[in-house]
Parts: sequence; C-alpha cells; structure tokens
Amino acid sequence: MENRPQWGTRAGFILAAIGSAVGLGNIWRFPAVAYENGGGAFFFPYLFALLTAGIPLLVMEFTLGHKYRGSAPLTMARMNKKVEWLGWWQVAISFVIATYYAVIIAWAISYARFSINLSWGKDTEGFLFNNYLKISDNPGNIGGLVPEVFIPLVIVWVIVLGVLIKGVKKGIEVANKIFIPALVILFLIIVIRAITLEGATQGLEAFFKPNWDQITNPEVWVAAYGQIFFSLSVAFAIMITYSSYLPKKTDITNNAFITGFANSGFELLAGIGVFAALGFMAVQQGVSVDEVVDGGVGLAFVIFPQIINTFPAFNELFGLLFFVCLVLAGLSSLISIVETFIAGVQDKFNISRTKSVLFGGGLAALVSVIYATKSGLYFLDAADYFINNFGVALAGLVEVVIVAWVLRELKNLQSHANGMSDIMLGAWWRFSLTIITPIVLGYMMVQNIITNIKENYEGYSTSFLLYSGWGVAVFAIIIGIIFTSFKWKQSVLPLSKKKEVI
Ligand code: ALA
Repeated sequence: MENRPQWGTRAGFILAAIGSAVGLGNIWRFPAVAYENGGGAFFFPYLFALLTAGIPLLVMEFTLGHKYRGSAPLTMARMNKKVEWLGWWQVAISFVIATYYAVIIAWAISYARFSINLSWGKDTEGFLFNNYLKISDNPGNIGGLVPEVFIPLVIVWVIVLGVLIKGVKKGIEVANKIFIPALVILFLIIVIRAITLEGATQGLEAFFKPNWDQITNPEVWVAAYGQIFFSLSVAFAIMITYSSYLPKKTDITNNAFITGFANSGFELLAGIGVFAALGFMAVQQGVSVDEVVDGGVGLAFVIFPQIINTFPAFNELFGLLFFVCLVLAGLSSLISIVETFIAGVQDKFNISRTKSVLFGGGLAALVSVIYATKSGLYFLDAADYFINNFGVALAGLVEVVIVAWVLRELKNLQSHANGMSDIMLGAWWRFSLTIITPIVLGYMMVQNIITNIKENYEGYSTSFLLYSGWGVAVFAIIIGIIFTSFKWKQSVLPLSKKKEVI
C-alpha cells in the first residue's frame, strides 16, 4: 500500500521548494559573487546558467521524484538498481551541509539578540572573531566549545527537528507557509529602507555597472553555474525528495519555473538591498564601494553590523530585521536539507518518521557541535568549500551524465512531465542537459581540481585540508557506498503500477 505523505496544497509545495532555494546563498553569497564577476555583465552568464542548467535540472529532479515517488536513494534505485549510490551520495552531501548550515543560523540568532542593544560595538570584526567566536589561532587547535554558539545551535536543532517530526503537511508545509511570507515582508522593508539611504545610488551603480571584459572570462561562467546550483538546491537530493510528496496531478514544469524565477527574483532583491546599504556605508566613510564590499561571513557579521551602527534611525530595529531574515531564510533551507536524509533512512529501513528524525537529525545535530568549537569557523570554511566544489557540483555532473547518457532516461522523463504540464518540454530541455550542462560542469570540475592541487585552499595546511576538506568530500562518497550495501525491506523497492504515477 502506498502511504507516502503528500503536500496539502500546490501552493504548499511551491512555498516549500522556494523556501529551500531561498537561503543563505541568496542573501550573502549572490551579491558578492555578482559583484566580483562583472557586476551588470554577470547577469548574462547567470541567466544563461539559470535557463540552460538550473531550471532544466530542477524540472528533471521534480520529474524524477514525482515519477518514482521516493527519497533520492529510493528514486534512483527505482530508476535503476545500479545507481542507488548516487542518491545516497547526494543525501550524504546534504548531511554534511546540514551540519554547518545549522551553525550559521545559530550565529544569526545570536546576532539578532546582539542587535537589540548593538552589543557588537564599533570594532565589529574584533567582536565577531574574538568576543563571539573566540576563534583559535590555529585551524587544527579545537580549543573547546563556545557556549554562546552552542546554545543557539541547540535552539536551531529543536526547531528543525520539531518541524520535521510533525511531518510533510503539518510540519514542513506549515512552517514554510509562515516563514516565507514573513521573510518576503521583512526583507522588503529592509530593501526599501536601504534604497532610500544616502549613497544608495553609488552602491547600485557599482552593482549594476557592467564590466564587459569579464564576459569572456571562463571563470565568470563557472561562478554563475556554481551560484545557480547552490542557490536552487539542485543536486543535493532535496528537490527529488520534495517532489516525491506531490499528488498525482500537478504541473511539474510550471512548478519548476515558478521556483526558479522566485529564487532569482529574491536573489536580485538581496543584491539591490545589500549594495544600496554598502553604498550608504561607503559614503559615510568617504571611500569607494569596492573598498567595503565583502561576501559570506564578512558581509553578514562584520559589514552589516557596521552599516547598522551608522544607520540614521531605528538602528536596533533594522539590525533585528536583517538577522531575523537570515534566520528565516536559513531555517526553511535547513529543513529541506535535513529532510533528504530523514526520508532516505525512513524509506530504506522502513522505520517511523519519528525514529528517522531522531536518528538522522540527532546525528547531524551531534556532528554540528564541532563547528561550535573555537576552530569551528576554519572547519566550516573548508567543509563548505570542498563539499560545494567536490560534492554538489560533482554530484550534479554525475547525475546528468547518468540520466542523460548512461540510462538515456530523458525522453521518458520528458513525456512524463509533458503528460501533466502546461509548458511542454522540447528538444531545448534535452539539449541543455545532454550537452551544455555536462560540458560546463565538466570544465568547472577540471579547473577546480587543477586549482586545488596547485595551491592549498586559503593557504590552510595540507594535513588540515586532508581531514576537514578533501576528507569530508570523500566521506560523502563512502557513506553513499555503505548505505547502498544495506538491503531494502522486501516490499519497498518495487514501484507497482498502483504506486506509480502515470
Ligand atoms: N539553496 C540554499 C541556499 O541558497 C541552500 O542557501
């Protein structure tokens, strides 16, 4: 009997997919990536990557999940028993991402609290590294737990596992129906305030001014593909899992277009808000925008507190709004990341959802404590870089090669999606996945490997990178192989005609 949970409404599914896509990647990653890779000129490679890889892959993952109705490993195994490992590999990648993603949300919770009395002071950099993270001087020196990070981390896990225990409809769907509208409203308030600040135009000019020389630079194209993959949550098992809870009748292709464009729309909004605010700060300090621009940890936890300090009014309120937005965007993504392994374990071992959440989620929570130590930031930096470059991007490449070239499944998937969608998938879709995506991702992979063999990422020592970077990426593959070797409960694997959505 098919007793797979289902989304309550189509809007519920779309909000959950958007909630997964819109995350830390949109708010702190995109603005800096766009700026560093040609500003206005970056939009061409970005749009090209969205239309030739992001959305086609999203359609493919939605179709896979819907057709085979399983977590990523079960979907892969049902498509062809020999490729189950690919599903587990992607699930393991998600496991790794979940462990550090949770910690960044924990920082954002702390900073939401700090913004109430601007307790980061004037030296926001010193505050972050010395007072808050208490960072050790050497990456290998773990140096004990930092309670100020550990406590909000516990809160993050209680929320995420609490939502997941409630299930797909009552937990994930309800949470996203609250988080996403709240996020959009709060973020719009920040953006509107930012673009009305003095200096906002300078910031926006810096952001949008096209640097056309950059458009012929292959690295810019690679950056665009990398951004699209991380941001759209493709190739880490999420979208396959989420679409496995869709009802029989649903417009797969339209869902993918809505999700893709909503995610990019939010990304653009974040770029506008962040650069308007950076322009404001540059004018306050009498420097040019490129002197204040930063991405990632530096942008959110060093530059933003500085901007908040110099705000003309309601500083505390805007600080609070910004960090609450990070928390909401982060939580809705983390829920989807953790759901991949909850669903995988539940399908494979035929156990209850509660057991699977407590075992899978509990283990991830336990592992994440390593990032709440004094060298947590170093571990996080290395794990994030390696799991994205040699996890997500590599798994994406392997996924398209297997589906398009090895199993030659694209035509089947195309007719499945076309059977229930308004927008018809045509040869452009197959061409994107068979030719364009493998070529760009293949090139990206070779470049990445060469760069990382030539020089150690961020100048970290080889031994540190071996266990916290390369080791983490290889660990995901090994986990994939180990989990594949366990036997399925007899009745789970076959997709009977009754279970299959035709
Ligand atoms: N797609 C999520 C993000 O952008 C993971 O952060």
